[in-house]
Amino acid sequence: MWPLLVALLLGSFHCGLAQLLFKNISSVKIDHCKNIVLIPCYVSNLEAENINELFLKWKFGRNSDIIFVFDGYANKSAAFYKFSSAHIFPSEFLKGNASLNVAKEEVKNGKYTCEVTELSREGQQTVDLQYTDGSLFTLKEHISIIILPFLTLILFWAQFGILIQKYKSNPVNRKTIILFATGLLITIVVITGASLLIPGGFAKRKGYGFAFLTTPSVIPVFLQYHKFKPAIGRTLHTVIMLTIIQAVGTVLTVAGLYHSSLDCVPRYGSILILGLAIVALGELFGLIYMKCFDPLIEFQ
Ligand SMILES: *[C@@H]1O[C@H](CO)[C@@H](O)[C@H](O)[C@H]1NC(C)=O
Ligand SMILES: *[C@@H]1O[C@H](CO)[C@@H](O)[C@H](O)[C@H]1NC(C)=O
Ligand SMILES: *[C@@H]1O[C@H](CO)[C@@H](O)[C@H](O)[C@H]1NC(C)=O
Repeated sequence: MWPLLVALLLGSFHCGLAQLLFKNISSVKIDHCKNIVLIPCYVSNLEAENINELFLKWKFGRNSDIIFVFDGYANKSAAFYKFSSAHIFPSEFLKGNASLNVAKEEVKNGKYTCEVTELSREGQQTVDLQYTDGSLFTLKEHISIIILPFLTLILFWAQFGILIQKYKSNPVNRKTIILFATGLLITIVVITGASLLIPGGFAKRKGYGFAFLTTPSVIPVFLQYHKFKPAIGRTLHTVIMLTIIQAVGTVLTVAGLYHSSLDCVPRYGSILILGLAIVALGELFGLIYMKCFDPLIEFQ
Protein backbone atom coordinates (compact mmCIF):
# COMPACT_ATOMS: atom_id res chain seq x y z
CA MET A 1 0.00 0.00 0.00
CA TRP A 2 2.87 2.41 0.70
CA PRO A 3 3.57 3.42 -2.92
CA LEU A 4 0.06 4.75 -2.98
CA LEU A 5 0.64 6.72 0.22
CA VAL A 6 3.90 8.10 -1.16
CA ALA A 7 2.10 8.96 -4.36
CA LEU A 8 -0.65 10.77 -2.51
CA LEU A 9 1.89 12.64 -0.38
CA LEU A 10 4.05 13.66 -3.31
CA GLY A 11 0.98 14.53 -5.30
CA SER A 12 -0.20 16.91 -2.61
CA PHE A 13 3.17 18.70 -2.64
CA HIS A 14 2.82 19.46 -6.34
CA CYS A 15 6.37 18.55 -7.12
CA GLY A 16 5.76 19.21 -10.76
CA LEU A 17 6.01 15.69 -12.11
CA ALA A 18 4.19 14.99 -15.32
CA GLN A 19 0.75 13.53 -15.39
CA LEU A 20 0.23 10.13 -16.90
CA LEU A 21 -1.04 10.42 -20.44
CA PHE A 22 -3.56 8.08 -22.01
CA LYS A 23 -4.36 6.92 -25.47
CA ASN A 24 -7.55 8.79 -26.31
CA ILE A 25 -10.26 6.15 -26.53
CA SER A 26 -13.51 7.77 -25.47
CA SER A 27 -15.95 5.11 -26.56
CA VAL A 28 -15.93 1.51 -27.62
CA LYS A 29 -18.54 -0.76 -29.16
CA ILE A 30 -18.56 -4.40 -28.21
CA ASP A 31 -20.51 -7.10 -30.02
CA HIS A 32 -21.93 -10.22 -28.44
CA CYS A 33 -19.53 -12.55 -30.21
CA LYS A 34 -16.65 -12.33 -27.77
CA ASN A 35 -16.78 -14.21 -24.49
CA ILE A 36 -14.30 -11.87 -22.83
CA VAL A 37 -14.82 -8.17 -23.32
CA LEU A 38 -11.75 -5.93 -23.27
CA ILE A 39 -12.36 -2.47 -21.83
CA PRO A 40 -9.43 -0.48 -23.20
CA CYS A 41 -7.06 1.72 -21.22
CA TYR A 42 -3.54 2.50 -22.42
CA VAL A 43 -1.01 4.71 -20.65
CA SER A 44 1.40 6.17 -23.17
CA ASN A 45 4.14 7.52 -20.90
CA LEU A 46 4.56 4.87 -18.25
CA GLU A 47 8.12 4.62 -16.93
CA ALA A 48 7.80 2.00 -14.22
CA GLU A 49 10.29 -0.83 -14.51
CA ASN A 50 8.79 -2.91 -11.76
CA ILE A 51 5.17 -3.82 -11.26
CA ASN A 52 5.41 -2.83 -7.57
CA GLU A 53 5.49 0.83 -8.62
CA LEU A 54 2.04 0.58 -10.12
CA PHE A 55 -1.47 0.79 -8.82
CA LEU A 56 -4.68 0.52 -10.83
CA LYS A 57 -8.30 1.16 -10.05
CA TRP A 58 -11.28 0.63 -12.35
CA LYS A 59 -14.54 2.39 -11.63
CA PHE A 60 -17.93 2.02 -13.20
CA GLY A 61 -21.12 3.98 -13.54
CA ARG A 62 -22.57 7.20 -12.29
CA ASN A 63 -21.50 6.57 -8.69
CA SER A 64 -18.00 5.56 -9.74
CA ASP A 65 -18.26 2.27 -7.90
CA ILE A 66 -14.88 0.64 -7.63
CA ILE A 67 -15.14 -2.60 -9.55
CA PHE A 68 -11.50 -3.67 -9.74
CA VAL A 69 -8.24 -2.89 -7.97
CA PHE A 70 -4.73 -4.07 -8.74
CA ASP A 71 -2.05 -3.31 -6.19
CA GLY A 72 1.32 -3.92 -7.79
CA TYR A 73 3.26 -3.62 -4.54
CA ALA A 74 1.23 -6.36 -2.87
CA ASN A 75 0.93 -8.12 -6.24
CA LYS A 76 -2.75 -8.56 -5.55
CA SER A 77 -5.93 -7.83 -7.41
CA ALA A 78 -9.55 -7.74 -6.31
CA ALA A 79 -12.80 -7.55 -8.27
CA PHE A 80 -15.98 -6.15 -6.78
CA TYR A 81 -19.71 -5.94 -7.21
CA LYS A 82 -21.07 -7.84 -10.15
CA PHE A 83 -17.74 -7.82 -11.96
CA SER A 84 -16.24 -10.86 -10.27
CA SER A 85 -14.60 -12.00 -13.51
CA ALA A 86 -12.66 -8.75 -13.98
CA HIS A 87 -8.92 -9.19 -14.35
CA ILE A 88 -5.82 -7.69 -15.93
CA PHE A 89 -2.45 -9.08 -16.92
CA PRO A 90 0.31 -7.49 -14.80
CA SER A 91 2.86 -8.06 -17.56
CA GLU A 92 0.65 -6.03 -19.94
CA PHE A 93 0.04 -3.40 -17.28
CA LEU A 94 3.80 -2.87 -16.92
CA LYS A 95 3.83 -2.05 -20.64
CA GLY A 96 1.10 0.54 -20.11
CA ASN A 97 -1.83 -1.65 -21.08
CA ALA A 98 -4.24 -1.41 -18.17
CA SER A 99 -7.20 -2.80 -20.16
CA LEU A 100 -9.73 -4.69 -18.11
CA ASN A 101 -10.96 -8.13 -19.14
CA VAL A 102 -14.57 -8.87 -18.15
CA ALA A 103 -16.73 -11.87 -18.94
CA LYS A 104 -19.46 -11.07 -21.47
CA GLU A 105 -22.24 -11.88 -19.00
CA GLU A 106 -21.02 -9.29 -16.53
CA VAL A 107 -20.51 -6.39 -18.91
CA LYS A 108 -22.91 -3.50 -18.66
CA ASN A 109 -23.33 -0.45 -20.83
CA GLY A 110 -21.88 2.68 -19.31
CA LYS A 111 -18.80 4.64 -18.41
CA TYR A 112 -15.73 2.89 -17.14
CA THR A 113 -12.84 4.84 -15.66
CA CYS A 114 -9.32 3.52 -15.21
CA GLU A 115 -7.19 5.31 -12.70
CA VAL A 116 -3.47 4.55 -12.86
CA THR A 117 -0.89 5.54 -10.27
CA GLU A 118 2.84 5.21 -10.90
CA LEU A 119 4.71 6.29 -7.79
CA SER A 120 4.03 10.01 -7.73
CA ARG A 121 2.35 10.27 -11.09
CA GLU A 122 -1.23 9.50 -11.77
CA GLY A 123 -3.97 9.97 -14.29
CA GLN A 124 -7.30 8.64 -15.40
CA GLN A 125 -9.23 7.92 -18.54
CA THR A 126 -12.93 7.24 -19.04
CA VAL A 127 -14.31 5.08 -21.79
CA ASP A 128 -17.97 4.78 -22.70
CA LEU A 129 -18.78 1.18 -23.45
CA GLN A 130 -21.71 0.28 -25.68
CA TYR A 131 -22.60 -3.37 -25.75
CA THR A 132 -24.59 -4.22 -28.87
CA ASP A 133 -26.44 -7.42 -28.21
CA GLY A 134 -29.18 -7.31 -30.81
CA SER A 135 -27.03 -7.67 -33.88
CA LEU A 136 -28.01 -11.29 -34.42
CA PHE A 137 -30.92 -10.18 -36.61
CA THR A 138 -32.04 -6.90 -38.13
CA LEU A 139 -35.09 -5.13 -36.73
CA LYS A 140 -37.30 -6.32 -39.61
CA GLU A 141 -36.16 -9.90 -39.08
CA HIS A 142 -36.73 -9.50 -35.36
CA ILE A 143 -40.36 -8.54 -35.96
CA SER A 144 -41.00 -11.42 -38.38
CA ILE A 145 -39.43 -13.91 -36.00
CA ILE A 146 -41.81 -12.78 -33.27
CA ILE A 147 -44.96 -12.52 -35.40
CA LEU A 148 -44.77 -15.77 -37.39
CA PRO A 149 -44.84 -18.18 -34.41
CA PHE A 150 -47.88 -16.31 -33.08
CA LEU A 151 -49.55 -16.62 -36.48
CA THR A 152 -48.89 -20.38 -36.39
CA LEU A 153 -50.39 -20.47 -32.90
CA ILE A 154 -53.55 -18.63 -33.95
CA LEU A 155 -54.03 -20.92 -36.95
CA PHE A 156 -53.46 -23.94 -34.75
CA TRP A 157 -56.13 -22.85 -32.25
CA ALA A 158 -58.52 -22.03 -35.09
CA GLN A 159 -58.15 -25.61 -36.31
CA PHE A 160 -58.70 -26.83 -32.81
CA GLY A 161 -61.92 -24.82 -32.63
CA ILE A 162 -63.19 -26.44 -35.83
CA LEU A 163 -62.32 -29.90 -34.49
CA ILE A 164 -64.22 -29.27 -31.27
CA GLN A 165 -67.27 -28.24 -33.29
CA LYS A 166 -67.06 -31.41 -35.31
CA TYR A 167 -66.90 -33.52 -32.18
CA LYS A 168 -70.00 -31.90 -30.73
CA SER A 169 -71.27 -35.20 -29.45
CA ASN A 170 -68.04 -36.03 -27.62
CA PRO A 171 -65.67 -33.05 -27.46
CA VAL A 172 -63.45 -34.51 -24.73
CA ASN A 173 -61.87 -37.42 -26.51
CA ARG A 174 -58.29 -38.61 -26.64
CA LYS A 175 -57.52 -36.69 -29.83
CA THR A 176 -58.74 -33.30 -28.60
CA ILE A 177 -56.98 -33.79 -25.26
CA ILE A 178 -53.64 -34.49 -26.97
CA LEU A 179 -54.09 -31.50 -29.29
CA PHE A 180 -55.21 -29.22 -26.46
CA ALA A 181 -52.29 -30.19 -24.21
CA THR A 182 -49.75 -29.78 -27.01
CA GLY A 183 -51.30 -26.49 -28.09
CA LEU A 184 -51.10 -25.20 -24.54
CA LEU A 185 -47.44 -26.22 -24.33
CA ILE A 186 -46.58 -24.47 -27.61
CA THR A 187 -48.46 -21.36 -26.48
CA ILE A 188 -46.58 -21.15 -23.18
CA VAL A 189 -43.19 -21.72 -24.82
CA VAL A 190 -43.81 -19.11 -27.54
CA ILE A 191 -45.04 -16.48 -25.07
CA THR A 192 -42.04 -17.15 -22.83
CA GLY A 193 -39.74 -16.78 -25.83
CA ALA A 194 -41.33 -13.49 -26.86
CA SER A 195 -41.04 -12.09 -23.34
CA LEU A 196 -37.34 -12.96 -23.29
CA LEU A 197 -36.84 -10.76 -26.34
CA ILE A 198 -38.00 -7.60 -24.61
CA PRO A 199 -35.29 -5.02 -25.36
CA GLY A 200 -32.57 -4.30 -22.85
CA GLY A 201 -31.64 -7.83 -22.05
CA PHE A 202 -28.35 -9.52 -22.57
CA ALA A 203 -27.41 -11.54 -25.59
CA LYS A 204 -27.69 -14.83 -23.78
CA ARG A 205 -31.27 -14.17 -22.72
CA LYS A 206 -32.15 -13.16 -26.27
CA GLY A 207 -30.59 -16.36 -27.57
CA TYR A 208 -32.92 -18.36 -25.33
CA GLY A 209 -35.78 -16.13 -26.49
CA PHE A 210 -35.18 -17.01 -30.14
CA ALA A 211 -34.82 -20.69 -29.32
CA PHE A 212 -38.08 -20.67 -27.31
CA LEU A 213 -39.94 -18.80 -30.04
CA THR A 214 -38.86 -20.98 -32.89
CA THR A 215 -38.54 -24.52 -31.55
CA PRO A 216 -42.30 -25.05 -31.15
CA SER A 217 -42.51 -24.87 -34.93
CA VAL A 218 -41.22 -28.43 -34.84
CA ILE A 219 -44.33 -29.65 -33.08
CA PRO A 220 -47.05 -28.94 -35.71
CA VAL A 221 -45.32 -31.43 -38.00
CA PHE A 222 -46.05 -34.23 -35.59
CA LEU A 223 -49.56 -33.00 -34.94
CA GLN A 224 -50.73 -33.22 -38.55
CA TYR A 225 -51.35 -36.91 -38.33
CA HIS A 226 -53.14 -36.55 -35.00
CA LYS A 227 -55.36 -33.78 -36.30
CA PHE A 228 -56.65 -35.66 -39.30
CA LYS A 229 -56.67 -39.17 -37.85
CA PRO A 230 -58.18 -41.43 -39.09
CA ALA A 231 -56.85 -40.31 -42.46
CA ILE A 232 -57.93 -42.16 -45.55
CA GLY A 233 -58.06 -41.36 -49.27
CA ARG A 234 -57.75 -37.68 -50.11
CA THR A 235 -57.30 -36.75 -46.45
CA LEU A 236 -54.30 -39.04 -46.20
CA HIS A 237 -52.71 -37.35 -49.22
CA THR A 238 -53.35 -33.97 -47.68
CA VAL A 239 -51.85 -35.04 -44.35
CA ILE A 240 -48.74 -36.33 -46.14
CA MET A 241 -48.43 -33.09 -48.12
CA LEU A 242 -48.92 -30.87 -45.07
CA THR A 243 -46.41 -32.92 -43.11
CA ILE A 244 -43.83 -32.58 -45.88
CA ILE A 245 -44.42 -28.81 -46.18
CA GLN A 246 -44.04 -28.30 -42.46
CA ALA A 247 -41.06 -30.63 -42.22
CA VAL A 248 -39.29 -28.48 -44.83
CA GLY A 249 -40.22 -25.38 -42.80
CA THR A 250 -38.94 -26.96 -39.62
CA VAL A 251 -35.62 -27.99 -41.18
CA LEU A 252 -35.10 -24.43 -42.48
CA THR A 253 -36.07 -22.95 -39.10
CA VAL A 254 -33.70 -25.13 -37.11
CA ALA A 255 -30.88 -24.69 -39.63
CA GLY A 256 -31.37 -20.91 -39.65
CA LEU A 257 -31.40 -20.69 -35.86
CA TYR A 258 -28.42 -23.00 -35.48
CA HIS A 259 -26.26 -21.11 -37.96
CA SER A 260 -27.32 -17.70 -36.65
CA SER A 261 -26.26 -18.60 -33.12
CA LEU A 262 -23.11 -20.36 -34.26
CA ASP A 263 -21.75 -17.91 -36.79
CA CYS A 264 -22.41 -14.70 -34.94
CA VAL A 265 -23.22 -13.08 -38.28
CA PRO A 266 -26.71 -11.86 -39.20
CA ARG A 267 -26.64 -13.89 -42.38
CA TYR A 268 -29.10 -16.68 -41.73
CA GLY A 269 -32.04 -14.65 -40.50
CA SER A 270 -33.83 -15.00 -43.83
CA ILE A 271 -33.57 -18.81 -43.76
CA LEU A 272 -35.03 -18.87 -40.27
CA ILE A 273 -37.88 -16.59 -41.32
CA LEU A 274 -38.57 -18.58 -44.47
CA GLY A 275 -38.80 -21.71 -42.31
CA LEU A 276 -41.19 -20.08 -39.84
CA ALA A 277 -43.32 -18.77 -42.70
CA ILE A 278 -43.58 -22.21 -44.30
CA VAL A 279 -44.65 -23.74 -40.98
CA ALA A 280 -47.33 -21.06 -40.63
CA LEU A 281 -48.42 -21.66 -44.24
CA GLY A 282 -48.77 -25.37 -43.47
CA GLU A 283 -51.09 -24.50 -40.62
CA LEU A 284 -53.07 -22.18 -42.90
CA PHE A 285 -53.52 -24.91 -45.55
CA GLY A 286 -54.57 -27.30 -42.79
CA LEU A 287 -57.17 -24.82 -41.58
CA ILE A 288 -58.56 -24.26 -45.07
CA TYR A 289 -58.69 -27.97 -45.69
CA MET A 290 -60.40 -28.65 -42.39
CA LYS A 291 -62.93 -25.90 -42.97
CA CYS A 292 -63.81 -26.62 -46.60
CA PHE A 293 -62.67 -29.88 -48.05
CA ASP A 294 -62.75 -32.57 -45.46
CA PRO A 295 -65.76 -34.68 -46.31
CA LEU A 296 -63.66 -37.83 -46.02
CA ILE A 297 -62.51 -37.27 -42.47
CA GLU A 298 -64.32 -39.86 -40.52
CA PHE A 299 -65.35 -38.15 -37.33
CA GLN A 300 -66.31 -40.59 -34.69
C1 LIG B 1 -10.29 12.76 -27.20
O1 LIG B 1 -11.37 12.50 -28.09
C2 LIG B 1 -12.52 13.23 -27.84
C3 LIG B 1 -13.61 12.80 -28.78
O2 LIG B 1 -13.26 11.67 -29.50
C4 LIG B 1 -12.23 14.73 -27.97
O3 LIG B 1 -13.38 15.46 -27.64
C5 LIG B 1 -11.09 15.10 -27.04
O4 LIG B 1 -10.73 16.44 -27.24
C6 LIG B 1 -9.88 14.22 -27.30
N1 LIG B 1 -8.85 14.52 -26.33
C7 LIG B 1 -7.57 14.61 -26.66
C8 LIG B 1 -6.63 14.89 -25.55
O5 LIG B 1 -7.18 14.44 -27.79
C1 LIG C 1 2.24 -12.14 -8.58
O1 LIG C 1 1.27 -13.13 -8.26
C2 LIG C 1 1.06 -14.07 -9.29
C3 LIG C 1 -0.01 -15.03 -8.82
O2 LIG C 1 -1.10 -14.32 -8.30
C4 LIG C 1 2.36 -14.81 -9.61
O3 LIG C 1 2.15 -15.68 -10.69
C5 LIG C 1 3.44 -13.79 -9.96
O4 LIG C 1 4.66 -14.45 -10.15
C6 LIG C 1 3.58 -12.76 -8.89
N1 LIG C 1 4.52 -11.73 -9.31
C7 LIG C 1 5.49 -11.26 -8.55
C8 LIG C 1 6.34 -10.21 -9.13
O5 LIG C 1 5.64 -11.66 -7.41
C1 LIG D 1 -3.85 -5.37 -23.69
O1 LIG D 1 -4.01 -6.41 -22.77
C2 LIG D 1 -5.04 -7.32 -23.04
C3 LIG D 1 -5.11 -8.32 -21.92
O2 LIG D 1 -5.43 -7.69 -20.73
C4 LIG D 1 -4.81 -7.99 -24.38
O3 LIG D 1 -5.87 -8.86 -24.69
C5 LIG D 1 -4.66 -6.92 -25.45
O4 LIG D 1 -4.36 -7.51 -26.68
C6 LIG D 1 -3.58 -5.92 -25.06
N1 LIG D 1 -3.56 -4.86 -26.06
C7 LIG D 1 -2.50 -4.61 -26.82
C8 LIG D 1 -2.64 -3.49 -27.80
O5 LIG D 1 -1.48 -5.28 -26.72
